[in-house]
Amino acid sequence: MSEALLIDELRAVVGERGVVVDANDLENYNVDWRHMFKGRARCAVLPRSTSEVAQVVRLCAGKGISIVPYGGNTGLSGGATPDGSGSQVVLSLARMNAIRDIDALGETMEVEAGCILQTAQEAATQAGLMLPISLAAEGSARIGGLLSTNAGGTNVLRYGMSRTRVLGLEVVTADGEIVSGLRRLRKDNAGYDWKQLFIGAEGTLGIITAAVLQLAPQSCHRVTALLAVPTPDAALKVLRAARQHIGETLNAFELMSGAALELVARHQGLKTPLAASEWFVLVEASSCLAGLRDAVEGLFATVLEEGDATDGVIAESERQEGELWLLRESITEAESREGRSLKHDVSVPIAGIPAFLREADAAVAQAFPGSRVNAFGHAGDGNIHYNVIVSPAADGHALNMLVHDLVVRHGGSISAEHGIGQYRVSELQRCRAPSELRLAGRIKRALDPAGTMNPGKVMPLISQAD
Ligand code: FAD
Ligand code: MLT
Ligand code: ZN
Repeated sequence: MSEALLIDELRAVVGERGVVVDANDLENYNVDWRHMFKGRARCAVLPRSTSEVAQVVRLCAGKGISIVPYGGNTGLSGGATPDGSGSQVVLSLARMNAIRDIDALGETMEVEAGCILQTAQEAATQAGLMLPISLAAEGSARIGGLLSTNAGGTNVLRYGMSRTRVLGLEVVTADGEIVSGLRRLRKDNAGYDWKQLFIGAEGTLGIITAAVLQLAPQSCHRVTALLAVPTPDAALKVLRAARQHIGETLNAFELMSGAALELVARHQGLKTPLAASEWFVLVEASSCLAGLRDAVEGLFATVLEEGDATDGVIAESERQEGELWLLRESITEAESREGRSLKHDVSVPIAGIPAFLREADAAVAQAFPGSRVNAFGHAGDGNIHYNVIVSPAADGHALNMLVHDLVVRHGGSISAEHGIGQYRVSELQRCRAPSELRLAGRIKRALDPAGTMNPGKVMPLISQAD
């Protein structure tokens, strides 16, 4: 079949402007946010409705053409980047961005997969509610991408991963069938909860086209504070004290090394309002009950007296809160300007964080002299971004294995929130139990028997006989 015929057929479904073929215009689709992975898309297709997604999938499936789903392209594992063959079709959800409904009493939002997270957050706020998924890429990441990666972010501690927000899902399966489970029920035990398979599947099982999200009530008071702490052990003592003083009002507990904030100062010109320290923690709490600020001040007094914190500041205004958060949210961008960095998005049981960091620092310094560790992350969830800035010549695979082996020894995960994409496929095979990998393969073959949904992501290309 000629290429021109395929493009004509796709245009017949999604309209003239819905198919991108120009090499320059395809550049955005060919490379990931970090410019680590470069592929070559055959074309990009932008459907306007679930029915058009289904037609595109059927058309491609009928010709054995692979599809790479594409959201905001902020993923950090190369999941939305096509391979270099020039044969894969990128399917962008960008034109499906409607917020279909907000139910203020039921606290739900029905939203299409292409809606940008920040737009959805703003709509929830306007309705007097909040959408508690928050990450530095929220101005670009789209709902379908967030759910497909089961994104984490800065308030998982209180509100859970993206998965926990999903009440209902609509997907297009690999053979092009629309499966709509857009129920807004908090309780629904009628049969298998199939939507969980598509959440976190990184586009390898089907395409998410819409979702019903559980919103949350807005908080009346919010307190944001930055503390300097001498060590990760001390940071965990602050976490324990925070749980005792302010309990479930704790939204975020973010650990940042002094080195991470030096990168932010160097590349973004943002100054930390406290004297230099080896480590910092950013704490946010919110509640509708009175007395939250007093409770945080009580926490401050306790941890300063115990020596678990050496200094601290509580934001006095929304502007100051924003400034403290900007420090945290600028780390990824600052790191990307520093040179080559190898990301390790790891989690370990919370109590194991200090030992993991000590052991990893020692092992990395010994095996990769001259490298610099940029460690920060969602310590309240046990999730550390153990990123290492290395020379262009460094053996990245050896470094990844070294860090991941330690993670496994600590009972941790080699991806806490960014997913596997194409970046960690071989490491997942190495670090996960064969029985878990076999089960994953059975799910993949059951839902995508022809292997056309984002092949080579999450797991190696598998023959149907495997
Ligand atoms: P994309 O990058 O476009 O796609 C991600 C994956 O989902 C790909 O495999 C793609 O094929 C698939 N996909 C996309 N849309 C669909 C769909 N509709 N149906 C099926 N599959 C689909 N992540 C965190 O978890 N926590 C953080 O704190 C965090 N901070 C970040 C900060 C910065 C500055 C940046 C750049 C990224 C950060 N990320 C973080 C990573 C990223 O933002 C998340 O992974 C996000 O969920 C990706 O959304 P996206 O729309 O950009 O998806
Ligand atoms: C973040 O939490 O800012 C990102 O998930 C981390 C990263 O860029 O490694
Ligand atoms: Zn993160």
